[in-house]
Amino acid sequence: MTRHFLADDDLSPAEQAEVLELAATLKASPYDARPLAGPQSVAMVFDKPTLRTQVSFGAGIAELGGNPMLVEGRLAGIGIRESVEDVARVLGRQVSAIVWRTFEQSDLELMAEHAGVPVVNALTDEFHPCQLVADLLTVREHVGPLAGLTVAFVGDGACNMGNSWLLAGATAGMHVRVSAPEGYVPSPAMFDRANAIGATTGGSATAVPDPVAAVTGADVVVTDTWVSMGKEEESAAREVVFGPWSLTADLLAHAQPEAVVLHCLPAYRGKEIAADVIDGPQSVVWDEAENRRHAQKAILTYLLEHP
Ligand code: NVA
Repeated sequence: MTRHFLADDDLSPAEQAEVLELAATLKASPYDARPLAGPQSVAMVFDKPTLRTQVSFGAGIAELGGNPMLVEGRLAGIGIRESVEDVARVLGRQVSAIVWRTFEQSDLELMAEHAGVPVVNALTDEFHPCQLVADLLTVREHVGPLAGLTVAFVGDGACNMGNSWLLAGATAGMHVRVSAPEGYVPSPAMFDRANAIGATTGGSATAVPDPVAAVTGADVVVTDTWVSMGKEEESAAREVVFGPWSLTADLLAHAQPEAVVLHCLPAYRGKEIAADVIDGPQSVVWDEAENRRHAQKAILTYLLEHP
């Protein structure tokens, strides 16, 4: 059986803890593990813009002894020029793993079904699970053990980051509060899925419409762009609705005094996050961005070593 990482809950609580531990080990000794020696190639396919994901996977795969191979989504035309299934069969004969950023989660699942090698979600409309491993690693480093911590996610809760926080946070035994305007709250099914995990870990997932109530007492405060990739046409309308959910210093003041602020980037200062918050002392966003590399090295290593 080939293991994939398509959504945050593809890792059980014990597996997530193991991957986080491995990420910390790899961060301390970046060149010691070489599961891709050969070098074996890993395809990195992007159907949406990227900076951190391409660079952190590229550098990380090289550190693991492998060859990062960029596949331009525009040129490959997956699902347009040829079917997802056929692309999966072809890539699977050339590379040891496939990292794919695309729109539909169902396409990613189709790729995984037919590739015969591990497939990693490098962001879909629904989930961004690699980011969450990096985020949890960052919280571990700055705050401490994850279980029992309270996270407030404010802003566009219905996007990949909101969904991924619900699942990954609950897996880690955290209490995740999502605060979003009406119409931008994760689906009830996503809360149910997170709370089913939380029932086994002590974690929980709750919608808290009022941003002040959501942030009050939180150990971790998270936001994300109001306009995810693919939603650019809705920019103007979204900016009107999301105003009260902007992560300002006044809002952050309701969190624990030593709370940390996360943002997966790119950030829009003055919109979802104030400049004095993202550039302020509670922000750990640069460590978070660096941790993408360590987290993804751990994910790839884990998938390759646990078929
Ligand atoms: N929700 C954002 C995350 C960017 C890394 C997007 O999908 O554009």
